[in-house]
Formats: sequence, C-alpha cells, structure tokens
Amino acid sequence: MSKLRVHAFSISLDGYGAGPNQDLSNPFGVGGMALTEWVVHTRTFQQLFGDESGTTGIDDDFAARGSGNIGAWILGRNMFGPIRGSWLDDSWKGPWGENPPYHTSVFILTNHPRASISMEGGTTFHFVTEGIHVALKQATEAAKGQDVRLGGGVATVRQYLSAGLVDEMHLAVSPVLLGSGEHLLAGIDLPGLGYQCTEHVATVKATHVVLSKRASSKELS
Ligand SMILES: NC(=O)c1ccc[n+]([C@@H]2O[C@H](COP(=O)([O-])OP(=O)(O)OC[C@H]3O[C@@H](n4cnc5c(N)ncnc54)[C@H](OP(=O)(O)O)[C@@H]3O)[C@@H](O)[C@H]2O)c1
Repeated sequence: MSKLRVHAFSISLDGYGAGPNQDLSNPFGVGGMALTEWVVHTRTFQQLFGDESGTTGIDDDFAARGSGNIGAWILGRNMFGPIRGSWLDDSWKGPWGENPPYHTSVFILTNHPRASISMEGGTTFHFVTEGIHVALKQATEAAKGQDVRLGGGVATVRQYLSAGLVDEMHLAVSPVLLGSGEHLLAGIDLPGLGYQCTEHVATVKATHVVLSKRASSKELS
C-alpha cells in the first residue's frame, strides 16, 4: 500500500520549520535557512544540482532516504513560492528553475485555482483546491503503487499529521533557535494519533528523529 512520507524536514530546537516573514530573499523566513545547514552540503543535496562532491555520512544517509520509491509529491502553496492570494499571471513556476528536482507529478494545495504546468525533467505541477484528502487521493493515483512524499511547508505537514495520514516522518532537529515563525508540532497530540519515535541519531549538525505511525487495529485485521 502506498505510504505518505515526510523526509528531511528541518526544525529548530524550539520547534519552528520556517522563520517569520517569508519572501523571495528569505524563502525559509528570516533566519530559517540556518535550519538547512545539515543538508545543503550533503552529496544527496548537491547531486540535485549535478555536483558529486557533497559530504557522505549520517546526514547524507538520512537525506538519501527521501528519494527512494517516491511516485508523487504534495506541497503547500507557500512552499511553491512567495506569491500570496490570486495568481496575477502564469509567469511564476516555482523557485526551482525550468527543471525542478521532483521529476514526478507534484500536487500543490491552494485556495486559488490554476492550470497544471509541465516542466522539464518530468515534473508536472497540479493545483488542488479541494483539500488534503483530494490531494492525497490524486497523488496516490499518480504514484502508481509507489509512495507519496509530503514536502511541506509547515501548515501542510501539520494538516496531514493532525489527520493521522502521515505514515513516516523524518525530522532533522537543527541546533538553532528561531523564536518565531511557523511551528510544526504545537497543539498536535502525536502519541494520541498513534505516532512513536522509532529512530534517533545525533550528528554535529542535527539530531535525526523518525516518527512512525502504529498500524491501527483495523489495518492489522
Ligand atoms: N523546515 C523544512 O524542512 C521545510 C520544508 C519545506 C518547506 N519549508 C518552509 O515552510 C514555509 C512554508 O510553509 P507554510 O506553513 O508557510 O505554508 P505551506 O504549507 O507551504 O502552504 C500553506 C498555504 O497552502 C495553501 N493550503 C494549505 N492547505 C490547504 C488546504 N487544505 N486547502 C487549500 N489550500 C491550502 C494555502 O495557500 P492559499 O490560500 O494562498 O492558496 C496556505 O496558506 C516556507 O518558508 C518553506 O521554505 C520548510
């Protein structure tokens, strides 16, 4: 059965997945880029840009886990870029250039309809206005038996977590404090939803934590 997986999602020590005031020059919000320090030098991340010289080791191993058996992605509209409200025109196609690093269908949650966009390298952006369940259904169909990766941002992951729909989530807790921004887990009763910590490993740059959802009695029967 297709799983919904979160990988390489970075949070600060005080729990923020993005800093405040996101804009074009601060895509992770002010101060938020510090969250990504553990991943940006890894081989897996550098390979996205055709560079083979990145670091290997535990941080890279966790980054690499996110690329196997993924047949579709789901994103929130803010992760697609800094434009808010109605789309003024069709010129904005995400911050990743003509060949985004997805190479699958990508379902973007938004309240503002827009036609799908085909990009180079097999990425197609679809804009879903009917909510998280419809986006997951469409992504699962597009994934054709592979898993669906939930890329973020924070509000989007929070909705799928709160609905108990995330099967597995890798968090990288970075040794920085943000103080404000988008908080990932506040108010979500993870154990009540059936989540438990199934793995934790610390490196110099991050503490990696994997949360997994226990199979419900219905799923086991
Ligand atoms: N820490 C990490 O590893 C990580 C990973 C990915 C992203 N990020 C960061 O997270 C930030 C973005 O997160 P965010 O929490 O601000 O926003 P987000 O989850 O990317 O997007 C939220 C927006 O998506 C639309 N949306 C979400 N759920 C919807 C629903 N059920 N129905 C219809 N539309 C829906 C709404 O936009 P509209 O109403 O405008 O359409 C909403 O304002 C960025 O700074 C990004 O860089 C961090």
